[in-house]
Amino acid sequence: MSELQQAAKRAVGKHVASMIESGMRLGIGTGSTAALAIEELGIRVRNEGLDIAGVATSFSAERLAREHGIRLTTLDETPRLDLAFDGADEVDPDFNLIKGRGAAQTREKIVAAQAAKFVVLIDESKMVDKLGTRMPLPVEVVPMAAVPVMQVLSSLGADSEIRMGLKKDGPVVSDQGMWIIDARFEEITDPEHVNRRLLMTPGVVDHGLFLGMATTVLVGRSDGKVDVLTRD
Ligand code: A5P
Repeated sequence: MSELQQAAKRAVGKHVASMIESGMRLGIGTGSTAALAIEELGIRVRNEGLDIAGVATSFSAERLAREHGIRLTTLDETPRLDLAFDGADEVDPDFNLIKGRGAAQTREKIVAAQAAKFVVLIDESKMVDKLGTRMPLPVEVVPMAAVPVMQVLSSLGADSEIRMGLKKDGPVVSDQGMWIIDARFEEITDPEHVNRRLLMTPGVVDHGLFLGMATTVLVGRSDGKVDVLTRD
């Protein structure tokens, strides 16, 4: 990651941390941008004694939140959240997203769906005209369904492969013990159709298309400024 990109990510992390008020219940995102927001939020908890608690979207977010002194809760205890923040891999002009580079999209979607506000943290390189043009779509599957799901993805126009571990032999195993299929489209012309088709496919746990969920997008610029985009 370049220094400019890091500055942009830090700026949106700081910005979302400044939006949090004492008493709020949060969704805590996963990835390198959300990690900076967790760090900035931790600074506010330490300096201002902010009383907050959050539901983590992954083991990784859980560990980081704990490290930075952010109290954790669960959806069992706290099913309604005031605000969830998270990164994204692509954002289109209608605020639809692709998420899941870090394989956390299933929990990320569950948590975001429970939040009154879903704030997405990106740098400007993540803005796209059409989803699927920059990153593959991650699809989480029950392992025995991998090949049938890849056949469905092929009928939708995607080339797909099972995501392999880097410091592990064999497939990446998600926090739920499932596999991830990365589906590369030229572009996703009809995200609603892909969403419906995947969710009706047996063995698909969930996928990285987040349609109509984001309420605010914070776009970090390389000069450290942040554009705040909101949906009516
Ligand atoms: C985690 O699985 C992802 O959905 C991330 O939130 C997304 O990939 C953005 O990550 P970065 O902030 O690291 O780019």
